[in-house]
Amino acid sequence: MYEMAGFKDFKQIHSTVNEYLKYDSYICYLHKDNQLMFNLILFGPPGSGKGTQSEKLIAKYGLKHLSTGDLLRSEICRETPLGKEAQNFMDKGQLVPDEVVIGMISSALDENPDAKGFLFDGFPRTPAQAKALDNLLELKEAPIAAMLALDVSEEELVKRLLKRGETSGRSDDNNESVIRARIVEYHNKTAVVADYYKQFDKVVMIKGEGTVEDIFERLCAEIDIRA
Ligand code: AP5
Ligand code: MG
Repeated sequence: MYEMAGFKDFKQIHSTVNEYLKYDSYICYLHKDNQLMFNLILFGPPGSGKGTQSEKLIAKYGLKHLSTGDLLRSEICRETPLGKEAQNFMDKGQLVPDEVVIGMISSALDENPDAKGFLFDGFPRTPAQAKALDNLLELKEAPIAAMLALDVSEEELVKRLLKRGETSGRSDDNNESVIRARIVEYHNKTAVVADYYKQFDKVVMIKGEGTVEDIFERLCAEIDIRA
C-alpha cells in the first residue's frame, strides 16, 4: 500500500510526516483547493514591523521570505552594479525603479521552485509591481491569499526607526528627514497598492502597535482563517 503512495517503507513515511509536522500549518498547503502554494503579502509603511513579524511568520508557517529591501541591501553589500544604482535611491528614501525590483523578485521566484509559499515583505510597493507580481504568480497558479496590512501611527514609525538608526548602520535610518521622506514616498506611491488588492477582497488591516508577540498573534489569527 505505502509503495503506491511513493514511499519505500514505513521509516520513510515516518520521517516525511515528521518533516511536515515541523510547520504547524503545513496541512493548509495540502487542503487549500488543491493549491500547493500559500502566498502572503506583509504590507505597511517603513518601520511598521514587516521584517520583525516576517521572521516569526516564516518560522511558524514554513514560507520563503522575500524582502526586496534585504535583497537590495545584499546587492549593495556585494557592490554589484544593481546595488550601486539602487543605493542612490535608497539613501534619499526614494523607491528604486520598478523594473529593478520586479526583476529581482522574478529571479527569486525562479530560484525557489519548491517553496511551499512566499511571504512578500516590502513588495509590491507600486501598482505596477502588484500587477507584475500577479502575472508572475499566475504562471505558477499560486495567487496571493491575503495582504496583511500593519497599521502604525507616523510618530511611532519615526520613533522606532530613529531608535534602530542608533545601531543598525542603515544609511536610511540615521537621519530623520530621510525617514520622513520614506514615509512620504509610502503615502504617495505605495499606500494605493492596498486599493489594488481591496478590489479582490484580499486586504486585512492589523493593528501594528503593541508588543511584537501581540501583533504576531493578530497576524496568525487572520492567516489561520484563510489557511
Ligand atoms: P525596506 O528594507 O523594505 O524598508 P522599509 O519598508 O522602509 O521599512 P523597514 O524595513 O525599515 O521597516 P519594517 O516595516 O520592516 O519594520 P521592522 O520590523 O524592521 O526598504 C528600504 C528601501 O529599499 C526603500 O526605501 C526603497 O528605497 C528600497 N525598496 C525596497 N523595496 C522596494 C520596492 N518593492 N520597490 C522600490 N524600492 C524598494 O521594525 C522597525 C523597527 O521597529 C525595528 O527596530 C524593530 O525592532 C522595531 N519594532 C518592530 N515591531 C515593534 C513593536 N511592536 N514595538 C516596538 N518596536 C518595534
Ligand atoms: Mg523591513
